[in-house]
Amino acid sequence: MRAAVLKEFGSPLTIETVPDPVVGTGEVVVDVVAAGVLPYAAEVFRGERRYLLTLPVIPGSGAVGRVRAVGPDSTRLRVGDWVLCDPTIRARDDALTPDITLQGLSARGEGGLRLQQHFGQGSFAEQLLVPTENVFPLGATGATRATGATGATGATGATGATGATGATGATGATGATGATGATGATGASDATGTTGASDATDAADAGRWCALPVLLVPYGGLLAAGLQAGQTVLISGATGNFGSAAVAVALAMGAGCVVAPGRNEKMLGELERRFGSRIRTVRLSGDEAADRERMRAAAPAPIDVVLDLLPPSAAMTAVRAAVMTVREHGTVVLMGGVGMLGGDDLALPYPWLMRNNITVRGQWLCPRHANPQLIRLANSGQLDLRQFDVTAFDLADANTALRHAAAEGGRFSLTVIRPVREG
Ligand SMILES: NC(=O)c1ccc[n+]([C@@H]2O[C@H](COP(=O)([O-])OP(=O)(O)OC[C@H]3O[C@@H](n4cnc5c(N)ncnc54)[C@H](OP(=O)(O)O)[C@@H]3O)[C@@H](O)[C@H]2O)c1
Repeated sequence: MRAAVLKEFGSPLTIETVPDPVVGTGEVVVDVVAAGVLPYAAEVFRGERRYLLTLPVIPGSGAVGRVRAVGPDSTRLRVGDWVLCDPTIRARDDALTPDITLQGLSARGEGGLRLQQHFGQGSFAEQLLVPTENVFPLGATGATRATGATGATGATGATGATGATGATGATGATGATGATGATGATGASDATGTTGASDATDAADAGRWCALPVLLVPYGGLLAAGLQAGQTVLISGATGNFGSAAVAVALAMGAGCVVAPGRNEKMLGELERRFGSRIRTVRLSGDEAADRERMRAAAPAPIDVVLDLLPPSAAMTAVRAAVMTVREHGTVVLMGGVGMLGGDDLALPYPWLMRNNITVRGQWLCPRHANPQLIRLANSGQLDLRQFDVTAFDLADANTALRHAAAEGGRFSLTVIRPVREG
C-alpha cells in the first residue's frame, strides 16, 4: 500500500510503498477514506512538541474509512462497513491503568511506546491496522433512522442557528430538502439495515466525519463533568480548536447556555454568529479579578460546569479566572496544557474549594463509550457536522496538507488527507 512516512523529526514526509497490514485476532484493517490533520501536527513531526513517537512511522491519528478485513473474534463488523477509527489505543493487559498510545502521534510512557511497536502506524496510509475495540460503525449505531433529522440540522445550520437550538420543528421541515451532510446520506440506511447503513454513507462527505476525533476531546471532558441538559457551562479557551468544538458539543448535549470567553474578536464574533442566543461571549482583559466578574455577569444562571482547554502558553491566572466562576457544588474539568511546559502551575484556594464543595478533576481524552455516543449525537441531528468546512488533499500531497492545517486548520475548518478515493 501507499503511505506517508516520517523518517526523522524535521524532515518532510515521504510517500512510499510499504507492506499491507495483516489482520490478526482482535484487529481490524480499514481502508482509509479520510484522515484528519491536526493544526499542530507539523509541530509534532518537527519534534517541537517532544511527543513520544518511534521513527520511522506512518503518522496520522484517527480515520474514517471502510472495513477491509476483520479478525476471527469480530462478531458484528462487516467488510465494507463505514467506521470511525479512534486513535486512542489502550493496552489490554491492565483494566485499571492501561498503557496508552495515540496512534500515529504519541504515547504515554514506556508502556505506551511498547504498544506503539504493534499499533503505532497511523492513518496517512491507504490501510490502517486498528484494535477491534477502536473501530466504531458510523451507520450501525441504531440512530440511522434519525439521520433524516441530521440532514435537517444541516439545513438548520444554514439559518445561522445550531442543531442544538431545540428548533426541532424547523429542522424537521428542512430535512425534506435532502441535505447533503455526511450524516444525511446515512439516512438511506433505513431501507437496508445495518449493511445498507454502511453502504449508504456518502464517501464525498467522509472528511466531515473527521470532526469526530476533535469533538471527542471536549466530549470526554463534558461527560466527565456530568453535564446535564439545561445547565450553564463555561468553556475556557472557547476560541481555540478544541474549545470551539467544546462549544458545539456542549450545545449538542443540551447545555442551556455556554459562556465563551476569549481575546480573539473575530472568533468570538464567529461563535455568536454560529450559535446565537445560547452562547454568551466574553472579551477577556487579562485582569484576573475583572475577567472573573465579566464571565459571571455574562452567565444567565450560576455556572454549573467549567471546562478548561487553555494551552501551555496561557497564564495560570487565566485558567484560575475561569475556574473560579463555577457555582457552589459545581464541577471543573481540566483538559488544557497550563503548566505542562513550565510556568506557574494552577493554584486554587483551599478554603474556596472546601467551603463551596467544588469538584475539580482532570481528563485526558475520552472513554471508549464516548465514540458511539458521539456518533449517535451526530446521527440524531443534535450535533451538526456540517458546521465543519473540509479541505481535502491526496496522500501524495501530505506535506501540503500539514502546511495547510497549520495555517488554516482548526476552529470548524478540517484539513483531511484522502488516501483512498471513493465516490
Ligand atoms: N486533555 C486532552 O485530552 C487534550 C486533547 C487534545 C488537546 N488538549 C489540549 O488542549 C489545549 C488547547 O489546544 P488547541 O489546539 O485547542 O489550542 P488553540 O487552538 O491554540 O487554542 C488556544 C486557546 O487558548 C486561548 N489562549 C491562549 N493564550 C491565552 C491567554 N494567555 N489567555 C487567555 N486565553 C488564551 C486562545 O484564545 P484567544 O485566541 O481568544 O486569545 C484560544 O482560545 C492544549 O493545551 C492541548 O494540549 C488536551
